[in-house]
Amino acid sequence: MAASSAGNFYQDFDLIWGDHRAKILSGGSLLTLSLDQASGSGFQSKRQYLFGRFDMQLKLVAGNSAGTVTAYYLSSEGPNRDEIDFEFLGNLSGDPYIVHTNVYTQGKADREQQFYLWFDPTKDFHTYSFLWNPQRIIFLVDNIPIRVFNNGEPYGVPFPKRQPMKLYSSLWNADQWATKGGLVKTDWSKAPFTAFYRNFKANACVWSKGSSSCANNKNNAWQTQGLDANSRRRLRWVQKYFMIYNYCSDLKRFPGGRPRECRRSRF
Ligand SMILES: *[C@@H]1O[C@H](CO)[C@@H](O)[C@H](O)[C@H]1NC(C)=O
Repeated sequence: MAASSAGNFYQDFDLIWGDHRAKILSGGSLLTLSLDQASGSGFQSKRQYLFGRFDMQLKLVAGNSAGTVTAYYLSSEGPNRDEIDFEFLGNLSGDPYIVHTNVYTQGKADREQQFYLWFDPTKDFHTYSFLWNPQRIIFLVDNIPIRVFNNGEPYGVPFPKRQPMKLYSSLWNADQWATKGGLVKTDWSKAPFTAFYRNFKANACVWSKGSSSCANNKNNAWQTQGLDANSRRRLRWVQKYFMIYNYCSDLKRFPGGRPRECRRSRF
């Protein structure tokens, strides 16, 4: 089965939530999700993957997007799930989105890192990527690494590597908590809220009938990719100027000592 695909939403995704609010347009090259007071919407990949590099261009809800959340994530099915999350928390016009990231391993998360972006994510499309190989997970924005989660199995931290995942996205109302901690409510007079997707690319291992095949990747570099000196420099730049929350630095939250991966990794 082809493990590598470029940009046909009909071929790669199913619209799974929100009826007409999720749409595939332009012959399969554009997908839109929208949210109104009755419902949000969402889609999921047809395939399951076990490791890969996934790139998608998103243009987030513009204007007053306070209260809305656009989630874009990989997740396994069933209990004790593994999940790798980007969540984009909307804001009042002119105020910055927060990019929230998390990693679940076998049902356990509590590994949030949050960032502002160095551009307005509602003006143009930007590329948001997951690189997931057996050694690490890298979150990238326009090919700039913003977060790395290393495989900490050697020191007892579970890593997602046995459960295949699908790629999901949804747009929903989270005004209970999303914007300024829930103080700013969704302004329904601005509905529908719409997010745009294009240029999905997966160089990935496709899971089928209990085994995974990486046969048809156009590019296999992701399988062993880590951070070279240049990416480490960019990661430090993002973490220094744009990171607004890091669970590893939240000492109050872990009175018994920080999670092990925080003690072992500089990132
Ligand atoms: C929204 O804007 C405020 C004010 O600039 C900022 O403190 C907050 O982090 C922004 N993002 C969210 C999701 O609340």
